[in-house]
Amino acid sequence: MICGYIAESDAEKIFSMPDRNNATLLRPQSAEAIIRTSALTRNFGTLVAVDRLDLEVFRGEVFGLLGRNGAGKSTLIKMLTTLLPPSAGTAQIAGFDIAAKAADVRRVIGYVPQALSADGDLTGYENLLVFARLYDVPPRERSARIQDALVLMGLADSAHRLVKEYSGGMIRRLEIAQSTLHWPRVLFLDEPTVGLDPVARRDVWGMIGQLRQRYGSTIVLTTHYLEEAAELCDRIGIMNKGRIVVIGTVAELEDKAGGGSTLDEAFAKYAGGTLEADLTVGTAYAATSLTRRAADRTR
Ligand SMILES: Nc1ncnc2c1ncn2[C@@H]1O[C@H](COP(=O)(O)OP(=O)(O)O)[C@@H](O)[C@H]1O
Ligand SMILES: [Mg+2]
Repeated sequence: MICGYIAESDAEKIFSMPDRNNATLLRPQSAEAIIRTSALTRNFGTLVAVDRLDLEVFRGEVFGLLGRNGAGKSTLIKMLTTLLPPSAGTAQIAGFDIAAKAADVRRVIGYVPQALSADGDLTGYENLLVFARLYDVPPRERSARIQDALVLMGLADSAHRLVKEYSGGMIRRLEIAQSTLHWPRVLFLDEPTVGLDPVARRDVWGMIGQLRQRYGSTIVLTTHYLEEAAELCDRIGIMNKGRIVVIGTVAELEDKAGGGSTLDEAFAKYAGGTLEADLTVGTAYAATSLTRRAADRTR
């Protein structure tokens, strides 16, 4: 039975790129936009969560969405991953419209949500098998791809342990492995390191770097951590109230914020306050629930 042949041929294209292991992949190869949004908007009642957003993300880059709680980062990602219909505007991923061609979009993307997406009562290997089926990876290729993903994410020795015994960092790496078994062209990571200790965070950063080097994937991630964005991202967009208020490399953002500004100062200027402001009364619930979710991940 021929099964999942479209995903396979997509992957072939990626793998047959002559220089896929070349360091030039570490920078965008061209200005070809693999994600393009036009006046993309999402309302919840009277709240405008994403507001007429125009954005281009280039093939091969790591793009970071920074912003305080409630800025609209997750809502934007949910629209781009076809999980939430836009209220207005359009977006294309790899040329496919997120509304008219949602099934095609889903085939070329991977998504690691903010919330937990691995089953604690299964082993790492079993979780990966579930996702290999979900993503239509051809049966004869499943075991090799799973083995590959386990090695790439540093989980080969823990493959047959129950996920509820994994650390938070291992779970996150497993989730990344799950969402890349079909070799997506674009990978979305929503808060990939929230709740992880600094060592586990660095591990995840390393894995993200390897993924991109190996598959040449375009990566869109959201984060609260400025140093994470600075370390991983070619370009950063700072979101505030549903809009991207400034976009560029770290150096460009620092420049735009005024000579001699740091990324923290640029963030404070464009994001509408410092991250500490998120911990004040109005948003205490969001901060607590983030911590809770992070704690839950390791249970
Ligand atoms: N399902 C929903 N129903 C109502 N409001 C929502 C929903 N999802 C998000 N929001 C609101 O939309 C805004 C943006 O949220 P979100 O995209 O989760 O922000 P971020 O990921 O940047 O923290 C917030 O004000 C949030 O409360
Ligand atoms: Mg979010």
